Parts: sequence; structure tokens; C-alpha cells
Amino acid sequence: MTERDIENFRTFFADYVRSFYSHVPEDQKNITLKEEHSLLVCRIIRLLAGEQGLAPDKILIAETIGLFHDIGRFPQYARYRTFRDSLSVNHGNLGVEILTEKNVLGPLPGQEQRIVLNAVRFHNAFSVPHLPDAEDVFFLRLVRDADKLDIWRIFLGFFESKNNDIASAVGLGLPETPGYSQEAVACLRDRKSVALSLLKNMNDFKLTQLSWVYDLNFSSSFALLAENDFIRRLVALLPDTEEIREVEALLSDYVSRMRKAAPAERGYAAGRQGT
Ligand SMILES: [Fe+2]
Repeated sequence: MTERDIENFRTFFADYVRSFYSHVPEDQKNITLKEEHSLLVCRIIRLLAGEQGLAPDKILIAETIGLFHDIGRFPQYARYRTFRDSLSVNHGNLGVEILTEKNVLGPLPGQEQRIVLNAVRFHNAFSVPHLPDAEDVFFLRLVRDADKLDIWRIFLGFFESKNNDIASAVGLGLPETPGYSQEAVACLRDRKSVALSLLKNMNDFKLTQLSWVYDLNFSSSFALLAENDFIRRLVALLPDTEEIREVEALLSDYVSRMRKAAPAERGYAAGRQGT
């Protein structure tokens, strides 16, 4: 893969996204949200890839994945007016369909195309699936981390500013009812990701986002998480209860250990698939 390829991909992305621009302000905000998110995930994934010591051509593959990981979001929103996959379509699969139908990755060697398509397809899977090629799993883990790091930024920007002018679909349309699900707290105590299907309200979504900490793979991701204070900031948006404080302590302890841990003890730890 070459610089020329990534330039062409950036042009394709910009043109494709522009075709979904809308005169309806609400819709345009949601499209812009995902356009900016895709470009920021490119930056974060480049950073993570660089810190892993990848060669320049491999960093370009990582950037391609960042650029295209949410390409399915645009037709998803156009057709269903939501970013909630359970109410519409799996946007990872839809992204693969678009890239394949339009042969966007055509100029790349087959192996690179496969790496990008697997990363797009599974970036939003509940857990990392078993894939035959270790390189596919590596790039998938990279985009899953970069994606979460930017979603935390967006979500906190939305809730901390209490700015209703921000794209409505950030909150997945969940109700702002009091309390939270005990099932979600139980997952956090067990160091498991909370399934999106468990969500009953916005507090559950905040707990889900906290549980993503257990799905991070790279020490630089834990460092970025800590630098941005995402755990404390998410907890500050939840009810101040004993069990939430306990969850915060568990997560903070986990992050400080994982920042220093060897790769085998992080995302590749026992009990996780896809190694
Ligand atoms: Fe996504």
C-alpha cells in the first residue's frame, strides 16, 4: 500500500460522505458527527500503530481501516435515521458490502484487502472473533481501541456540555430515566463488556462505555484513556452510589496495571478470543 492509495481513499471517503449531506439540520449534524469521528479515528489509529513500531506501509493500512471502519454508518443513517444497529442493520457488515460492491480496495493486494475488510466487519462485534491470520486480529484490535477512544471523547463532549445542539444520535435515543441495571454493574464487576442489548436507559449506556475499558488491547490506549480521565468523567455522569464508586475503583486499578502489563496480559489475556 502506498501514499497514493491512501490519498485516493481519502478522496473516495469525502465524496461518498458528501453524497449523504442533508438540508435537514438534525440529519446533517449526525452525518457530520460520523464524518469527523472517522477522521479522528484515523489520527488515533495512526498514533497507536506508530507506537507499535509498524512500518510506514502498515501504518497506511491502519489509517485505511480508521477511515472506512464506519463507512456503513452513512447509508445506515440515511435509511433508518438511527445509529442503533439492533434497530436497523449491522453497520460493520454494511461497510464491507459498500467497500466490496464499489471495489474501493481494488488497487490493494488481496491480503491487505482482507485485513481491512475483517477490521471493518468486526470493529463493532461484541468481542474479537477467531480469525485465521494473526495480522487480521492485530489490526482489528487496533481499530477497536481507536474507535472506543474517540467515542468516549464524543460521548463526554455531548453530556458534559449539556449542549442539545450536538448530534442527537450520540445517545442512541435511550431514555434519561433514573437508576441503572444491576446486570450492567454485574458485568463491570466480572470484568466483562456490557452487551448493548442489556441497555434500558442512558445510565446503562454510560456503564457500557465504562465496560469497554476491559476490551482495550494496547498500552498506549490505556495511556490515552488515563490522560483524558475518561473513567472519572463517565462516573461523574452516573448516580453517586457505593457500587458505582466500587466499579470506579476496580476500573482505575485495572487501568494502572494494564498500562504497565505485557501484551499477553492485556487484550490477549486468557478468556479472550482471537489470539
Ligand atoms: Fe462503528
